[in-house]
Amino acid sequence: MPEAKIAPSILASNFGNLAAECKRAMHCGADWLHVDIMDGHFVPNITIGAPVVTCIRGALPKGDSFFDCHMMVAEPERWVEDFAKAGGDLYCFHYEATSSPEALIDKIHASGMRAGCALKPKTPVSAVFDLVPKLDMVLIMTVEPGFGGQKFMIECMPKVEELRSKFPDLDIEVDGGLGPATIDFAADAGANVIVAGTSVFGAKDPREVIALLRETVNKRQLK
Ligand code: DX5
Ligand code: ZN
Repeated sequence: MPEAKIAPSILASNFGNLAAECKRAMHCGADWLHVDIMDGHFVPNITIGAPVVTCIRGALPKGDSFFDCHMMVAEPERWVEDFAKAGGDLYCFHYEATSSPEALIDKIHASGMRAGCALKPKTPVSAVFDLVPKLDMVLIMTVEPGFGGQKFMIECMPKVEELRSKFPDLDIEVDGGLGPATIDFAADAGANVIVAGTSVFGAKDPREVIALLRETVNKRQLK
């Protein structure tokens, strides 16, 4: 199983002070920054677009920080170049939002970014099996996408288990409701990339939370 990566979701940070919040998360031990892009069509909420990512990239040099862009958007094909230019490192589209996932993965790779594919809770995990050889990451959503601070859906864990048993070396990300109270379920199922918004940015000591999440995933790897 690949190493643990902890990716605080900046959706739970103070957007009025975004660059400083991103720096704070990195300073507290984050491996990646999870950037939630919502368009008001694919999900019933709007967040930020490429111009804002360009600004935070200006404050956090490439190489020192990894931007994991979770694209909760319709027509994900439209924004690949913009996010590559803005300094995105990984472009994770939703399987449900495209009819040509293979062509989209090629487009993402051609732009110089890693490619991820996200599945909503009700989408069967078998949908991505044929795509995995081309993908750098699969994201198994553990809430319905659209909002931070929702309850972790434990019923999604069999999807993670099945994916891990088929693909031991794949980066498998989980997103939604993760924190000290739920990390054991995700780690036991075999997830290694952990998104955490509320539990990190809402913590008194984010450093402690990030360390605990990482330690739990790494302990599972030794089993
Ligand atoms: C939900 C987003 C998540 C969200 C996670 O649609 O994709 O990344 O910010 O937030 P928490 O960790 O608070 O559930
Ligand atoms: Zn997300």
